Amino acid sequence: MNNKHVEVLPDKTALIERGRERVLSEIRTAIARSDRATIALAGGGTPKPLYEALAKEDLPWEKIHIFWGDERYVPPDHPDSNQRMAREAWLDRVPLPPENIHPMPTGAADPAIDARTHEQELQAFFELESGTFPEFDLILLGIGDDAHTASLFPGTEALQVRDRLVTVGNKDGQPRLTFTVPSINAARCVLFLVSGAGKQEALDRIFAPEANPFVYPARFVQPGEGQLWWLLDDAAGGHLGLG
Ligand code: 6PG
Repeated sequence: MNNKHVEVLPDKTALIERGRERVLSEIRTAIARSDRATIALAGGGTPKPLYEALAKEDLPWEKIHIFWGDERYVPPDHPDSNQRMAREAWLDRVPLPPENIHPMPTGAADPAIDARTHEQELQAFFELESGTFPEFDLILLGIGDDAHTASLFPGTEALQVRDRLVTVGNKDGQPRLTFTVPSINAARCVLFLVSGAGKQEALDRIFAPEANPFVYPARFVQPGEGQLWWLLDDAAGGHLGLG
């Protein structure tokens, strides 16, 4: 089954619009299937205009549950917080019930404690048996210039974790919380949104026939049964001769 889709859009505006279409499609499909939609958000800067566009939509917000695929280990009101960015751009602008927003906790003294806490929340929410992983309807991801995704950074231990839903990532010695590779790959749909010339080399490696995923972590993202979408703008992926 060909579950991988790659589209190259002419510019970032077109990329965000196509991303909006895809997110809305996955939300509507999920609600039609199970009367709810579970979405894990990406952080960073690329998705912000997408979140701002989604804030203008008229959706059955009470059926939509928001999570994050990773989080910087800072308070929720910190300028670097992925939760803060999404709330300001989107979640605070729509009538989402507060209980439908499930941020990664960052308040314990030890990130590993918060990772366990969030893992337990996911297990309870998705009613998971031990050793199984949540089937998010949609996980949004970006990639860094180093081909990291979520907070799975090159050469870090987090890349090897297969028996946890959430683990502690590490960026230049700074802790982060992140979904593990199996948590991402259990999703029904993974959608990468990649913009800008700075991502060209990372995409070269990610789309090359052979590359070490421990060096280029986004290569680990291969949903089992789910759909994998890559939406690239021309600046990032036009040179690849894809989609
Ligand atoms: C984060 C993200 C991270 C991000 C990439 C791309 O917490 O920063 O989850 O994986 O998606 O670093 O970031 P930009 O969109 O800002 O280029």
